[in-house]
Amino acid sequence: MSRITVWFIKCAMVYFLLAISLGVYMVASGGLYPYLPIHAHFNLLGWMSMMIYGVSYHILPRFSGRPLWSDKLAEAHFWLANIGLVGISAGWILKYIDGGHTVLLIFSLIEALAIIFFVINMFKTIKSTPPIKAT
Ligand code: HEM
Ligand code: HEM
Repeated sequence: MSRITVWFIKCAMVYFLLAISLGVYMVASGGLYPYLPIHAHFNLLGWMSMMIYGVSYHILPRFSGRPLWSDKLAEAHFWLANIGLVGISAGWILKYIDGGHTVLLIFSLIEALAIIFFVINMFKTIKSTPPIKAT
C-alpha cells in the first residue's frame, strides 16, 4: 500500500475512536452542543471519508490500469483534509463560546479545497482508456 493510503486509513481509525467517544460522552452527559456536529463530522469526514480516500487511492489506479495522476496533490489533500477537519471542529467550539463563525468558515474552505483536490486527482486517474481492439 502507498503511504498516502496508510496515512488516511490510520487517521480514519483515530477519528472513529474520537467520534465514538464523543457520542458516548453526549449520551452520558445529556448535552449535545458543541459536540454534535463534531461527532457527526469526525464520523463522516473523518472515519468514513478518510477510509474511502485511503481505499480509493489504492484501488482506483489499479482498476483503471494507470498510476495515480498526482502524488503531490494526494499529499496536499491529506494535510488539508486533516487541518480542515480539526479546524472546523475548533470553529464549532468557538462558535458555541462566542457566536463567531470566521474560524469555521476559513477551515470549511480548507476542507472544501481538500475535497476538490481529491476529486480532480480521481477524475484524472480514472479517465476511460480506449477499448482494446480484438485482433
Ligand atoms: C458508540 C456509537 C455512537 C454513539 C453513542 C452516538 C451518539 C450520538 C448522539 C447522542 C447523537 C445526537 C442525537 C440527537 O440529536 O439527539 C448522534 C448524532 C449523530 N451521529 Fe452518532 N453515535 C454513535 C455512532 C455514530 C456513527 C458510527 C456515525 C456515522 C458513521 C454517527 C453519525 C451521527 C450523525 C450524522 C449524527 C447527527 C444526526 C442528526 O443531526 O440528526 N454516529 N450520535
Ligand atoms: C467542507 C465540508 C463540510 C462542511 C464545511 C460542513 C459543514 C456543516 C455545517 C456547518 C453543519 C451544521 C452543523 C450545526 O450547526 O449543527 C453541517 C451539518 C451536517 N453535515 Fe456537514 N459539512 C461538510 C461535509 C459533510 C459531509 C461530507 C457529510 C456527509 C458525508 C456531512 C454531513 C452532515 C450532516 C449529517 C449534518 C447534520 C448533523 C449536524 O448537525 O452536525 N457534512 N455540516
